Amino acid sequence: MSDQLTTVVTKKKIAMSAPKDDSLTGRKRSRKDRIDIGDEFDDESTPAQDVLEHVAEIPDDVILRQMRLFRDDANPKKVDLGVGAYKDDEGRSLVFGTVRKAEVLLTASHAGPMRIYDELQPRTEATRPKDGLLDKDYPGMRGVGFFLSGAQTLLFGEDHGLHVASVQTVAGSAACRIAFELFLRFLPDMKIFAPNPTWGNHHYLWSETYAYHRGAKLPEYQYINPDTLTLDLEGMTQNLTGLRRGSIVLFHLCGHNPTGVDPNKAQWDAIADVVKERSLVPFIDAAYQGLVSGSTEDDAYFLRKLVEIGVPTIVVAQSFSKNMGLYGERVGALHVVCESEETARKVTSQLKMLTRGIYSMPPIHGARIAGYILSDPTLRMAWEEELRAASLRLWKVRSLLVAELVSMGTPHPLGVDWSVLASHGGMFSYTGLPAEVCYDLREEHSVYMVPATGRLCFCGLNEGNVVYVAEAIDKAVRRHMEI
Ligand code: LMR
Repeated sequence: MSDQLTTVVTKKKIAMSAPKDDSLTGRKRSRKDRIDIGDEFDDESTPAQDVLEHVAEIPDDVILRQMRLFRDDANPKKVDLGVGAYKDDEGRSLVFGTVRKAEVLLTASHAGPMRIYDELQPRTEATRPKDGLLDKDYPGMRGVGFFLSGAQTLLFGEDHGLHVASVQTVAGSAACRIAFELFLRFLPDMKIFAPNPTWGNHHYLWSETYAYHRGAKLPEYQYINPDTLTLDLEGMTQNLTGLRRGSIVLFHLCGHNPTGVDPNKAQWDAIADVVKERSLVPFIDAAYQGLVSGSTEDDAYFLRKLVEIGVPTIVVAQSFSKNMGLYGERVGALHVVCESEETARKVTSQLKMLTRGIYSMPPIHGARIAGYILSDPTLRMAWEEELRAASLRLWKVRSLLVAELVSMGTPHPLGVDWSVLASHGGMFSYTGLPAEVCYDLREEHSVYMVPATGRLCFCGLNEGNVVYVAEAIDKAVRRHMEI
């Protein structure tokens, strides 16, 4: 995604032009990096097929590329430590039991369970299909209503009493994209700052929002100390304190992607104070709620703190891809906490039209499943139980890997103790392994990490493969360090 080339079409020529400032490579874009369809465009001399013929083929996103390479790898010992998608103890994709149950109940052909759905989203005779089962109607511009209520409660707690403008989105990515559209439109003078590092797609989503206007990578604030792989709280708070009042700051609610480094509660308190004092606008990416500590409440600590101390505007991009395993269903929401009901109503109207302009309306199936789980007390409790088990499994394989590496005396390229990985949490860790080591792991051992960042996803690790992975890391590191 980073090497995007775009075609420049002018009256007399068709020329290829590399962007001058690509969001991820840092190259500069020029105003010519767009297809010019202005006065000069002469459609007689530039038929579409000629234009398309010159469109460059670009590489896949780095994470999704690893996913494809892993799929195509015939080695029976292959291990997927790339994409952030939860796996069970046998390395299989996991569908949460509560998701299966909600889906069955929602789609069941007998009358009983369907009543549940009718209670959540009352239907009239006209919206009830003849067979009495679920309709496939448009959901309306905000999306599935009972899903949005449940999603809000999960973030802000029961009876939060806040004025929140919410729309359902196509998972967390679209929530980020819609948020960026909102910022660009209504807060164009406010810069958005991201942690260094952040999920690569944050930069890409921003560059796609912004691309043909000015083109920029999100500016970054200090987040981790790359030498120790731990939080650099001092650097972070210093950077945040130095920002212009009203700046928008992207935070990861928990399970920071790609580092796995989260502030503890006292550190979050200090960060929240800076947010309040500097009147910053927190923009929170909530993609792993419940999967880090095993408790959805504990994982929402920073957000609840901001609310408690009265930060007036908070934006949250929420995803259910990970914590409900609804990856392909694309379930998410964007929430904007506003100061008054009237503001929330107006912001909602804008959010609805922003989504209308991108994908018109969100998909309903996954949102109904998530909404059902969140609204039904029994399912909700069972889901939280499953989350706890998933989080425990991640902690377990994390400590198993660390123990193996420590017991083998594997050197770390940065000279840090491998046990630092045990202080990270959630699905990921920034290992500090350089790209060459990651390539070696892939080519020689079929162990797939994300080479661009040295990110390791613990989901694909289990008791059956942890020794194999540790030995592969040991060999690759020693080879790299020529030990
Ligand atoms: C990841 O970071 O691996 C996931 O969020 C998948 C993705 O879309 O990048």
